Amino acid sequence: MRSMIDPMQPAEGSIAEPLEALIALKERGLLRHIDLSNVTAQQIAEAQEMTPIACVQNMYNVANRNNDAWIDSLAAQGIAWVPFFPLGGFSPLQSTQLNAVAQSLDATPMQVALAWLLQRAPNILLIPGTSSPHHLRENMASLQLTLPADALAKLNAIAAPAV
Ligand SMILES: NC(=O)c1ccc[n+]([C@@H]2O[C@H](COP(=O)([O-])OP(=O)(O)OC[C@H]3O[C@@H](n4cnc5c(N)ncnc54)[C@H](OP(=O)(O)O)[C@@H]3O)[C@@H](O)[C@H]2O)c1
Repeated sequence: MRSMIDPMQPAEGSIAEPLEALIALKERGLLRHIDLSNVTAQQIAEAQEMTPIACVQNMYNVANRNNDAWIDSLAAQGIAWVPFFPLGGFSPLQSTQLNAVAQSLDATPMQVALAWLLQRAPNILLIPGTSSPHHLRENMASLQLTLPADALAKLNAIAAPAV
């Protein structure tokens, strides 16, 4: 029978046991910070009861806004949010709105997707993956791209923020 578990989505369950191992390593001076990846809100809360968390890495991009509400809460706590699949990962982002905004700004859709993330919240750190030096240069240039309000409104309409 095929498994219904999606490896790109977090599964509920206590993370206390693996976290205890990391806390022990930190207490021995072998780790400076502890981060979490692919976790649920409950798991973040459980972890924060046990130890300071520096960073959370979950799937998030302009078209996949699960976890949207947490980002601001983590920003307020000074915790970094590192979205994995910022460009859609195995299914690169495809959106007519994204294309239209990119064309209006003389940028590429992927540059706009990265600029949207950078403007989404001050605690977002970007880790786009690429095997192409040309794409790497394009992605670095997205740091210089400022999205005007009308472009942001169009991009924010691509996917409803999850509650
Ligand atoms: N914590 C986790 O569970 C988890 C899960 C998945 C991924 N990650 C991490 O998240 C990071 C990003 O993941 P990812 O690389 O799989 O996904 P991604 O950054 O969303 O997308 C990478 C894809 O976008 C393409 N791309 C990159 N820049 C582009 C550009 N300027 N124009 C057009 N296409 C472009 C790449 O193709 P080219 O090679 O042709 O540029 C590649 O196909 C990685 O560090 C990965 O290890 C973490």
